[in-house]
Amino acid sequence: MTSILITGGAGFIGANFIRYVLQGDSAVRVVNLDALTYAGSLENLRDLPDATRHTFIQGDICDRPLIDKLLREHQIDTIVHFAAESHVDRSIHNPGQFIQTNIVGTFTLLEAARAAWCAKDVRSQKSEVSNNLATSDLRPLSSDLRPLTADRCSPTSDLRPLTADNCSLNSVAPRQRFHHVSTDEVFGSLHSHDPAFTETTPYDPSSPYSASKAASDHIVRAYARTYGLPVTMTNCSNNYGPYQFPEKLIPLMILNALEGKPLPVYGDGMQIRDWLYVEDHCEAIWKILQHGQPGETYNIGGDNQPSNLEIVRTICSLLDELVPTAVSGQRSAVSPQSFRAGLITFVKDRPGHDRRYAMDISKIKRELGWQPRHTLADGLRQTVQWYLDHPEWIAAIRGQGGYQTWMEKNYTARQEVSGQISKVSGK
Ligand code: NAD
Ligand code: DAU
Repeated sequence: MTSILITGGAGFIGANFIRYVLQGDSAVRVVNLDALTYAGSLENLRDLPDATRHTFIQGDICDRPLIDKLLREHQIDTIVHFAAESHVDRSIHNPGQFIQTNIVGTFTLLEAARAAWCAKDVRSQKSEVSNNLATSDLRPLSSDLRPLTADRCSPTSDLRPLTADNCSLNSVAPRQRFHHVSTDEVFGSLHSHDPAFTETTPYDPSSPYSASKAASDHIVRAYARTYGLPVTMTNCSNNYGPYQFPEKLIPLMILNALEGKPLPVYGDGMQIRDWLYVEDHCEAIWKILQHGQPGETYNIGGDNQPSNLEIVRTICSLLDELVPTAVSGQRSAVSPQSFRAGLITFVKDRPGHDRRYAMDISKIKRELGWQPRHTLADGLRQTVQWYLDHPEWIAAIRGQGGYQTWMEKNYTARQEVSGQISKVSGK
């Protein structure tokens, strides 16, 4: 792996992943394709380590000529696909964009990868290798195959429509990889005593967001099985950490609590997520790129099960400890948790709100030796501290187009519909 196309690299996880990659192997170059939607920002890419190895391209993953050009000109051998519309609440208000980016965009990338990584004339290669491999076998090519050279599998290959007949597993060099980043939300909702999701749990998505990710996952798998595209896929739980856009639970609660604003908890706040510190997610993806088997899916998660209310209360306690003087001038130390936890406000629930997610991560632990390095307590402390240390980033991000409009749209509607806002005292 020497030349990686990272889609969505100006977003939360993508930007963290780029930092992770640039801190590592100095032979690796990164091309970052991002449309800079409301969720992406060049602010997330300031002060990159070894920025000379990073090239930013503003563009859309649905733009096939652009993708073809990037794959060809940068001789891309690895694609790590983060770009997506990622916010469940926005998918409820505006599902169309999720269908376009998450499904059509993923399809566009797969088609471009297939065109770029398949040989012009694979018929001779197919006959050459057909005795060596079953076409459904997604393991790397056997070592007796000659490595594909520029004349046999070239980024400058023609762009005629490819069929199963002219692009197969046998025609793709084993060093190439398409990694698709997906979510635990495709599995739907668990009851309190259900076992955690495994890689074989049937899909049962609840929101337009998770349904669009589920669709993209199916298309990715179809490209592996039908065309032999060397894909790996991860389904990961809720991430948190530096650079997360403050419409998501944890950064939103940190910022509101700091400013003495209501902390809007959907429904009864007893929904359960499996939280993972973003750097641990980056490490897992990197391990999969290096040692994961093409055709395989891996679950990634943080191995914890707090309720949303517990998360919010922990954030309040951390802020009470780290910033004891509240925004109004009150000292929360007078009543240690009461000031910020007292801002917790129950609002109308999210439609179709999944109750519980939990990830069984035994496969990636067993096969690749990965497990989360951060406990939830450590990760939350580091995250709260990061937001305290980066007021300029917060101001810039909140000043970006559409953020305030979204906040008003989402939370005003919840209060209006619920009719009544109930507050709880923090215990
Ligand atoms: P994000 O919303 O912070 O970032 C998404 C990025 O994609 C943004 O920079 C945005 O500008 C870009 N983008 C959107 N549409 C695009 C398009 N059409 N073309 C090019 N770029 C486009 O998302 P995130 O939280 O960093 O999530 C990244 C990926 O990880 C997503 O695929 C998401 O489904 C998945 N995921 C996220 C989490 C999580 O907790 N955040 C957990 C599991 C999986
Ligand atoms: O599970 C992985 C998913 O995690 C990713 O696939 C998504 O891209 C990512 O956005 C995240 O989805 P969630 O919907 O779980 O994240 P969010 O931060 O929006 O919400 C987390 C929980 O907190 C969820 O149960 C809803 C609740 N919540 C959220 C907000 C924004 C609130 O109670 N109040 C809020 O204001």
